Amino acid sequence: MKIIYTQHELIEWRQSLTMPTSSIGFVPTMGALHLGHISLIERALEENDAVVVSIFVNPTQFNDSNDFLHYPKNNEGDLEMLKDYARLVIFLPATSEMYPSPEKEQFHSGLLTSTLEAKLRPGHFDGVITIIRKLFNSVRAHRVYFGEKDFQQLAVIKSWVILEKRSELIIPCPTIRESDGLAMSSRNQRLSPEMRKEAPFIFEVLQAAKAQVDTQSPAEMEIWIRSVFLERPLFRLDYFEIIDGNTFAPLAEWSDSSLPMAMIAVFLGEIRLIDNIALTEQSA
Ligand code: PAF
Repeated sequence: MKIIYTQHELIEWRQSLTMPTSSIGFVPTMGALHLGHISLIERALEENDAVVVSIFVNPTQFNDSNDFLHYPKNNEGDLEMLKDYARLVIFLPATSEMYPSPEKEQFHSGLLTSTLEAKLRPGHFDGVITIIRKLFNSVRAHRVYFGEKDFQQLAVIKSWVILEKRSELIIPCPTIRESDGLAMSSRNQRLSPEMRKEAPFIFEVLQAAKAQVDTQSPAEMEIWIRSVFLERPLFRLDYFEIIDGNTFAPLAEWSDSSLPMAMIAVFLGEIRLIDNIALTEQSA
């Protein structure tokens, strides 16, 4: 494992590879690593000659300063977790390295950047694209790995790569779950023991929704799931919506989509968790 702190060093490392045709995998993260990240890193190592993992809590993608302040940070633990992997480069820049001056670009891609996360976290995807451009330009990876838990982020980045005619291949990877079904997330570390006990309910609800596709319309399902959360006082539902997973358009009929997805964001106290499920077997 090699640690690099500046974009200049990263570019130099990239140029120094003895085999110029070496394939580079890239796993961008905000640290506080968990087994979900490790699954991305191990897949990237299987499919590439070398892998860059970035650890950077990107301030421009937080619409809530309190969320940024409390986002879990554990560089020491992260490096310990990665220390035995060969062929791994950790990019660990300071904020001043990535943002020598304040900046945030704007990225618009129809519903992908105006609904769900985009609507409830204004400016979030602008911040994601701002940092992704900087990271992609320094790493110049062949393949970049993202978890499907952040399904909308994945769609936004794929759309940006197409619109900008970039060469990076975006590789979606399945959500990794705890044994009780909770989607792994760095934010889970902030849950109190009581909240952690309740949190698997999020995936239980998604599975229950999937089991009712043959008996309910998308609108009926949204009403039902929203009502289920009213009976769970620890939760505050931010959204539960059924959309087409390609366009992010809300679904009126199941037959309108080959990729119907249920998307959820929910607060436990001040901790906001997201998850999603593909509602038909043939969909991803
Ligand atoms: O998914 C994340 O951890 C972040 O949004 C990303 C892609 C590393 C950009 O900061």
